[in-house]
Amino acid sequence: MERFRVVGGGRLQGVVRVTGAKNSVLKLMAAALLAEGETVLADVPDILDTRIMAELLRRLGCRVDHDAAAATVRIDVPGELGSEADYDLVRRMRASICVLGPLLARCGKVSVARPGGDNIGSRPLDMHIAGLQKLGADVESEHGNIVATAPSGLTGATIWLDFPSVGATENILMAAVLARGTTVIDNAAREPEIVDLCLMLEQMGARISGAGTSTLEVEGVERLSPTHHVSVPDRIVAGTWAYAAAMTRGDVTVRNGRAEHLEIALDKLATAGADVSRVEVDGEPGFRVVMDGRPRAVDVVTLPFPGFATDLLPMVLALNSVAEGAAIVTENVFEARFMFVDELARLGADVRTDGHHCLVRGRERLSGAPVRAHDIRAGAGLVIAGLVADGTTTVGDAYHVDRGYPGFAEQLRSLGVEVTRETDPDADLLDG
Ligand code: EPZ
Repeated sequence: MERFRVVGGGRLQGVVRVTGAKNSVLKLMAAALLAEGETVLADVPDILDTRIMAELLRRLGCRVDHDAAAATVRIDVPGELGSEADYDLVRRMRASICVLGPLLARCGKVSVARPGGDNIGSRPLDMHIAGLQKLGADVESEHGNIVATAPSGLTGATIWLDFPSVGATENILMAAVLARGTTVIDNAAREPEIVDLCLMLEQMGARISGAGTSTLEVEGVERLSPTHHVSVPDRIVAGTWAYAAAMTRGDVTVRNGRAEHLEIALDKLATAGADVSRVEVDGEPGFRVVMDGRPRAVDVVTLPFPGFATDLLPMVLALNSVAEGAAIVTENVFEARFMFVDELARLGADVRTDGHHCLVRGRERLSGAPVRAHDIRAGAGLVIAGLVADGTTTVGDAYHVDRGYPGFAEQLRSLGVEVTRETDPDADLLDG
């Protein structure tokens, strides 16, 4: 059990590269199950979640070679696949649920442990289940598992999502590509990770139209083939660097960061006073964020893509906590994402929540304190808040951050600030 030790006062400067997106790669790894043979994924981040997904695929009978140095994953999928994803892995990573669609499509049956909620919300799966039922599957809850069967295969249908859920869109999509006939997913999610999944599925032989729009149309095919695919860059990690640069009045170039996937988030930084420009680094697109003075406070409303990403909520709250003026930040995607606020208040931030609104009154500086990460993004938000706090901040439960940010402390040090990792002396107490 480790924690981050952050010494405040530094200014981020330099170039940092983002790898492929956690929230795409996990689904691309699951999509490999749809075709017998070897699929190769490139620009795969070396994070806890990709290792857990690799283990999940191994337990389903795949041979998985994760070469962290080369940032590749080779997944050799057998003709006969297991169809049970056990609780031991699913409880550690709820994204494991994304094997539901591919296994149902390939095997006609699947049992996945039902992941519970987590620190950002209850996270029900009703839209995943309703969508698969619309495709003709029989879905039951048994002994803590979701058990879906479709012995005679799936049949295309028109499915309307009450909310453009990323996970439900992905599971339904990965089931529909091998179904008989046409499936239409209305009010589908439009995130770049969805577009990336569609791209890979089309490379495998799937017939999909409308990727990136609210209406996805899928023409089912008999079989798919393995492929090679390079993951879309991680827009949330890229956005984290952008906000960290602005908060520390720094100058950071985010190599391989796609500005077009962060339009609203970068526009808010420009409103806060940052100079944001698109650049190219050794032939790779990216963007640069330079902030000379104290940021101005910005109001934000989180929404599904192309709205302001909920995963960047801790970053904009941290920015506003040291900004000039006050701002209201509204969270519309997850009901419990403000748990982060109490930890930010421990650093001296003037923050008040009311339902899904948070009022932040900016302060000149925060003051270092021991705080704890409750989830991936909250952890990253607290580390960068520590950079603008007087003295030292420690952020406990660093493993949360490891799930989504490869080599976070090393990369921060490469940008000129003092962030290290150490054993968390308090960890045991908490686990007691
Ligand atoms: C994905 O979660 C991401 N996770 C999340 O990132 C991200 O915050 C989220 O999309 C929104 O962008 C991965 O890709 C692994 P949803 P997902 O289904 O698919 C409700 C991170 O830090 N809902 O779009 O679980 C749900 O409760 C993580 O990297 C239902 O009610 O998100 C939530 O309030 C955190 N019923 C909303 O929809 C359902 O059946 C959006 O959830 C499904 C979802």
